[in-house]
Amino acid sequence: MFQKERFIEDCRAALKEREARAAIQELVTQAVSDTAGIVRELGEPTMSGVNVIHKADDLTILNLYWGPGMYIQPHDHRMWAVIGIYGGRENNVFYRRSERGLVQHGTRELNAKDTIPLGAAVIHAVTNPLDQITGAIHVYGGDFFATPRSEWDPETFAEQPYSVERTMRAFEEANKRLAELRSK
Ligand SMILES: [Fe+2]
Repeated sequence: MFQKERFIEDCRAALKEREARAAIQELVTQAVSDTAGIVRELGEPTMSGVNVIHKADDLTILNLYWGPGMYIQPHDHRMWAVIGIYGGRENNVFYRRSERGLVQHGTRELNAKDTIPLGAAVIHAVTNPLDQITGAIHVYGGDFFATPRSEWDPETFAEQPYSVERTMRAFEEANKRLAELRSK
């Protein structure tokens, strides 16, 4: 059964393996396969938001609640990552840099129990297409909050420094939509 402290310990141990990202993907796959167990341990998602489960120089583990219709504009991480979904849906659009800013080069729909590894150079935008909260575990091979990185304007694809404030505003707006949906 999923246990938060155990999961952190296992991820920390996996970091020491030669194929750390692959080892962590196995752990995330195992974790999100037990959708009820995760919800029991981390709580039923009621609001959109981000819970920091673990934060260190070499590892960040986030429990993300993507609110209904929430969109996170294209961004990079500059460290490897593993994404696992335990409820709802997360649509990923992948981009490459080009003279025009960015070009799309693929999409991936993630549903409950799906996981994907992302390389350090990956640029993606994320949408929750559903009218319900999507629950996701994201594991990053570094300090997600302290590493400078980029995001891109969704219309012009102009590159700019990643803004935590903008992301937090997206969570707030998603919570407003959630309140409207619930008041109907
Ligand atoms: Fe991301």
